[in-house]
Order: sequence, then C-alpha cells, then structure tokens
Amino acid sequence: MNVAVIGMQFGDEGKGKIVDYLASDFDIIARYCGGSNAGHTVVIENKKFKLHLVPSGALRGKIGVLGNGMVIDLQVLREELRELKDAGFEPKIIISSRAHVVTPLHKEMEALEEKVRNIGTTRRGIGPAYETKVKRVGIRIIDLFNQDALTKKLRLISTLWHLDKSNEEIENIAKELSSLGKEFKENVKDTELWLNQAISAGKSVLFEGAQGTMLDVDFGTYPFVTSSNTNSLGLFPGLGIPPKYLDKVIGVAKAYTTRVGEGPFPTEIHGELADMLRNKGNEYGATTGRPRRIGWLDLPVLRYSKLINGIEEIAITKIDVLQNLREIQVGVKYSCKGESFEYPPPFLESCKPVYESLDGWSSMDDEEFQRYLRFIEENISVKIKIVSYGAEREKTMRL
Ligand code: IMP
Ligand code: MG
Repeated sequence: MNVAVIGMQFGDEGKGKIVDYLASDFDIIARYCGGSNAGHTVVIENKKFKLHLVPSGALRGKIGVLGNGMVIDLQVLREELRELKDAGFEPKIIISSRAHVVTPLHKEMEALEEKVRNIGTTRRGIGPAYETKVKRVGIRIIDLFNQDALTKKLRLISTLWHLDKSNEEIENIAKELSSLGKEFKENVKDTELWLNQAISAGKSVLFEGAQGTMLDVDFGTYPFVTSSNTNSLGLFPGLGIPPKYLDKVIGVAKAYTTRVGEGPFPTEIHGELADMLRNKGNEYGATTGRPRRIGWLDLPVLRYSKLINGIEEIAITKIDVLQNLREIQVGVKYSCKGESFEYPPPFLESCKPVYESLDGWSSMDDEEFQRYLRFIEENISVKIKIVSYGAEREKTMRL
C-alpha cells in the first residue's frame, strides 16, 4: 500500500513527526516537491532533528527518495547529512537525475525579488529554481557532471536575470557545483524508473508532502504561496509515477492554524493569547526561525484540503497546545464580500471567518476534548485516525 502524507494548512502541521511515526510500515519514503524551504522536525531519543531535504522516514532506515519535482540545494543536503552522521544516522538516499539544482544565482535572484515585492519566502532559492526550470534554462542534477556545459548554463541564467557576474564568478560556482555533483554521484538515479520498478516489485512507498495545501502554487493563497504543487496531485509529476499507485492520502492538520510569511490568514489572532500559543507550541519556523503567525482552526481550509487532496483520514497534531483554554474558537465558514463561503475562494483576503465557540478541556479524558475532535470530523466529513499531543513519538494516539 502506498500512502501520501499531506499538510492541510499552511505548512508546519507536523508532517515530519507523522511521517516518522508511520515510516516503519513502508520500504521507501519519497519527497516530490519543494526543497530546503521545508523544515521537518523529528524527535528521536530526545534528540531533535530539523530536516530540510532528507525525507523524515529515512532516519528509520528506509530508503529516502528526492524526486524530480524537487529543487535541491546540495550544499544544504551535504550539511544535513553531516549533522545526521555526527548523531549516528546514515540515511540511504537517492536523488533524481532530473531534479533541479538550487545554485547561489537562484538565491541572489530571490534576494533581489524580495526587495521589490515581499512574499516572505524562506530565501532558499526555491521560487527562482522553479522559475529557471519552467523557463527551460534550469540546471538539473545530471548537468553537474559536465562542468563546461554547466558553466554555459550558469552564464545564461546570469545574463537573463541581469546578475552581472564575471566569468570568474561563474566559473567558481560551476566548479563548486560540479564538485558537489561528484560527491553525490553514487546517489543519483533515474528515480522515476527506480520507483516504478520498486512498486511493481511490491515495495511500499510513503509520499512525504512538504509545505501545505494553502501554499500550493495553484490552490493556495496565490501569490503568497510556494512555487510547486504541494498537494497530493503534485506527487505524480514530482516522482514520475502514475495515479494508480496512490492508495490513500492522510491529511495532517494542526489543532489550530499557523502561517509563516505574508498572505491572507482569516482566522489569525493577535495579542496575549496568540503569544501564549506561540510559546507553548514553539511556533518558530524550523527553517528561518521566524515567529509563526497564530490563529484558530479554519474549517473551510480543511474542507478544501480534503477535497483537493482526496484525504481519507486525518492526523491532528499539537492538540496539547490547546489544553487548558477555557474557550476555543473554530472558524466554520467565511463571509466574503457579503456572501457566505464553505471553501476558501480565490480572493481569501476579502474573507472574515464566522466562528463557533467550543468549551476547552483540561485533560484528554474530558468530554470537551472528544467534542472538539467530533466537531472537526462532522464539519469536514473525514475521520481523525491519529492524534498527536507532543513532539515525541510516544505522544501519539491511534483512534
Ligand atoms: P518559499 O517556498 O521559500 O518560496 O516561500 C514561499 C512561502 O511559503 C512563504 O510564505 C514561506 O514562509 C512559505 N513556506 C515555504 N516552505 C514552508 C514550510 O516548509 N513551512 C511553512 N511555510 C513554508
Ligand atoms: Mg516546517
């Protein structure tokens, strides 16, 4: 059975923990979108790991695949693997020959862009790497193995984006990238062939989503999105496998909502309560350290996410953070331009949430706790199958 684990909100739902928790049931963990903008926090034996490129389940001895739909910063990957090695982990990873490479030029492009218009990106060169890909001037992993051709490609990017690089600068970047390529040569494969063959041979795959549905370039809060299809649909082009191989989609939703970066966030709250939840939930970006914006649970977002991703069950995370609140608000629909909406419209910035208020709980044995879970299930018609109430693996309940 092949399962996708997808973020239902704005990223940071706790996918890393859920993937790690489920990993033992699978042979392969495959990522298909994004790059080192992702920050997946996994706690193993009281040690916290913030993974950006290595698929979370790869720490459990599974094979981690970095699919062609990703944009990969090999320098970050090298650093990440080094840290893991120091902690006693040597994950097995394979990298798609067709994945695109994030180079220093992409980061420079992004810095220039963010000066003119603020999306609040992670500044990991993600958007520009997808930009060069779609413009057909991108650099693929396979291109790292021919330094002369690579130099030409880098020069073309520099020219097209008016980066004004000297020949020497371009040559130095090419040299560094081809040396990184050499380092990872053994890990590079035509992963679409490898994966299809593995699945045909009966191996099971967990598809690890990154970011969240509301950051999806097509269905998120455009233009305040990341530059890839982060939803479950993205995994087919992002890995080169046909839809028939996806058996189930599990959605991961935080018990409240957070967002890092700019963009509409209807259920956002400010002030003391927001600060308290941020501290209790340690809501600071795993990649950038930025404080996350905080808000109540937004059911139209979950409803939409269920629909777009084909979600059949939900893992609710960080439910412990809400414990001991007297009252909890839940956004059940929106009022936008005088009309009522059950799903986020493409003009979410014009929407105000309509709240229902629920009683809080002080222990997970309380009736009110069950009521919160049932309220979510009934409103979006999906069963909650996993409840996570802490970063550690043990703090997970299967329902
Ligand atoms: P980019 O992906 O760096 O281009 O950033 C685009 C938007 O997506 C920004 O608002 C980022 O904060 C957000 N973003 C990107 N990756 C993640 C993630 O893994 N978690 C949460 N937000 C993310
Ligand atoms: Mg994260």
